[in-house]
Amino acid sequence: MDFQKDSYGDELRLKAIEKFDLISDLEQLEQFKTELLGRKGSVTELIKNISTLPSDEKKDAGKNANLIKIFFQELIQEKYEQYQSNDGDSHQSIDLSLPGRRRFRGSFHPTTVVLREISRVFTEMGFDSAEGPEVELDEYNFQKLNIPLDHPARDMWNTLWVDTTNDSNLKPLLMRTHTSPMQIRLMEKQTPPIRIIVPGKTYRYEATDATHEWQFCQVEGLVIDKGITFAHLKSTLEEFAQKMFGQKRKARFRCDFFPFVEPGAEVSIDCFKCDEGGVCNVCGPSGWIEIMGAGMVHPEVLKGVGYDPEVYSGFAFGMGAERISMLKNGIDDVRLFYSNDLRFLKQFS
Ligand code: DAH
Repeated sequence: MDFQKDSYGDELRLKAIEKFDLISDLEQLEQFKTELLGRKGSVTELIKNISTLPSDEKKDAGKNANLIKIFFQELIQEKYEQYQSNDGDSHQSIDLSLPGRRRFRGSFHPTTVVLREISRVFTEMGFDSAEGPEVELDEYNFQKLNIPLDHPARDMWNTLWVDTTNDSNLKPLLMRTHTSPMQIRLMEKQTPPIRIIVPGKTYRYEATDATHEWQFCQVEGLVIDKGITFAHLKSTLEEFAQKMFGQKRKARFRCDFFPFVEPGAEVSIDCFKCDEGGVCNVCGPSGWIEIMGAGMVHPEVLKGVGYDPEVYSGFAFGMGAERISMLKNGIDDVRLFYSNDLRFLKQFS
């Protein structure tokens, strides 16, 4: 292309060529293109400015400016093609001395971590482990656990119901509100002795806040045999508390009500945080932290699955997995578990 010295835009053209010669990678080429041909680029401005020139200069200036535009469009395109076919200059070729890219290493979810830990403690004590359905029959979630239809105790478990209205053959179905229905399923299938834990997901119709989630995990436990007493319950759960929270821990058992056990208990441990001194924000500051519910399996429940309560007895317990993890790891909001924030999740690798 012929450009005449000192013609309209010639100075800009020469300067731009100097700049172009210094380009060494695709990124710089992109930037050069924007600076020249972008909406506010210098060539674009050059064309716009033609309207301000005296009318006798406009024609030549227009021709020149257009040539400049085409010149750079072609130049840039050529350079693009060079980079694309990967024979751009040396900066663009592969640098073998660069360290390789690290693979992203995943880690277990904190709930998985705590479920494994709880399971390990119980399997070391000789417990088996089983899982069960998350969509459960009302019959198992409530009725066979000594919570008949319309019993006020149902208020303890805000329930997510499965819509069965368009199939009259279906029995009332729900998302299990706890892992306790597996007690029934296991007893119906097996003959004692039974010593088993059930880890798994549970669901509640719940407004979420720092201590409530609509979906969380529980670990249920069940022991049935001849001659099982409250002493077995106490020693097993105390041992669990010490393995989980440290050998120094004491366990406290206070009366509580759950329809499927008699007597029922709330199990707490003495506060490990208080050991560190100062005002305690973990136990509130009562000195005790509740970790689970437990009790001796109710004779009505045993009868319901065909066991003779005069022959067999047993204990059961149930705990929230995330709650145990929160206590162990000083986590103050249960919603963190399922909000998928990698900054939180990565801490458990
Ligand atoms: N299922 C109860 C709940 O979700 C927890 C529980 C309490 C389980 C006492 C038990 C038990 O096995 O004996 O609130």
